[in-house]
Amino acid sequence: MNAIDFYHTMDEHLQSKFELLKSKSLNIDLTRGKPGADQLDLSNELLSINVPSHDDNGVDLRNYGEPLGIRSARKLASELLSSPIELTAVAEQSSLLVTYQTCLALHLKGLEKPLKDVSNPKFICPVPGFDRHFRMLEELGIEIITVPLTGKGIDLNVLREVLDKTDNVMGAIIVPRHSNPSGDVYSDENLINTLEMFKNYSTKMVCIFDHAYLLHDFDKTTYQSATWKLVEEAEMANQAIVISSFSKVTFGAGGISFFAAGKELFDLVNHQRGSMIVAPDKVNQMRHALFFKSVEDVKKHMQEHAKLVKPKFDLVIDKLKSLGDECGSFTIPTGGYFISFNAPKGKAKKIISICKDLGVSLTPAGSTYPGMHDPDDSNIRLAPTFISIEQLEDAVDVFVLAVKIACS
Ligand SMILES: Cc1ncc(COP(=O)(O)O)c(C=O)c1O
Repeated sequence: MNAIDFYHTMDEHLQSKFELLKSKSLNIDLTRGKPGADQLDLSNELLSINVPSHDDNGVDLRNYGEPLGIRSARKLASELLSSPIELTAVAEQSSLLVTYQTCLALHLKGLEKPLKDVSNPKFICPVPGFDRHFRMLEELGIEIITVPLTGKGIDLNVLREVLDKTDNVMGAIIVPRHSNPSGDVYSDENLINTLEMFKNYSTKMVCIFDHAYLLHDFDKTTYQSATWKLVEEAEMANQAIVISSFSKVTFGAGGISFFAAGKELFDLVNHQRGSMIVAPDKVNQMRHALFFKSVEDVKKHMQEHAKLVKPKFDLVIDKLKSLGDECGSFTIPTGGYFISFNAPKGKAKKIISICKDLGVSLTPAGSTYPGMHDPDDSNIRLAPTFISIEQLEDAVDVFVLAVKIACS
């Protein structure tokens, strides 16, 4: 059935709602999890902050040097990650870049052997997940083994089965807090068990913790210990790296990124970084260290973000609740940037295409799975933060209608 025939077979009520929304000629982009302009305004002081030429230790911020970042920024980062300052570095504006540099370092050198010399190396990726993680692993020829998320972390029964029957699992990428897009906040128990399984599996595999949403609660969130502490307690520091950034704290792609890892891995990643970058942007690091003098400052700042972000999530959730159970299910996150909608099997592409016809762009179906292939054609990622509340209202009306049409 082509699109025109399809719309003509809709019942009258859906048809009139469709016509009404079509007449609005909407052009709304809900594809990426970007901060809204009002969130960016919270950090406007960064645009005019007076940055000195030297830091307190006499480091000339205008010149090369300090490849691990300036001391004040490293101190803040180590306090945020609960990691030792000597194993914590501050890098450029992108945590994704550090994740790529880590994967590349493993590919070219590895902990014991380069992944490029391992036969069919594999990484564990919980799903639904982040398209850029899949893309970087695919680029490096690393096979992705998916494991489902449960709401509180990885499905450990599946992980156990996978590890039992799979050779050459060389790593994992995990988003432990407000996972993109499911919103999973991993329980301590889940993380401890996951680390234990990895440790028993191999001394060569590396666990990359992408903490992109470390600080991004907008609602009461389950208690979670610092990932670094859990890693240390599991005696897995040499096989783990914890990475985060201020991309959604200050400016999108204009913050600073930071990471902590056990000595061997820390040196390996920094060596890789040294092949690419002589030194990070210390002026921006200082700008951030002056803007946030303490962890408390960061926390207060994030509470202001929460006030702006929460009403948007509440609006989306309220409208999604009008859908019957037969039309799918959705997550109710307590932080982060996404709502994950699971449509009935085989309906995601159709829903996204109806939204497009009505002027609302969503992340393409399949993007939350490796190779853009969602085996159930079900998962849709909704990113409510970037647009205004008025646009969001229209966008979610379109989405709800599209779901109803697709399920009718
Ligand atoms: C899980 C995850 N990691 C990393 C990033 C990118 O972060 P950065 O801007 O620090 O590279 C995002 C943003 O979309 C994300 O969702």
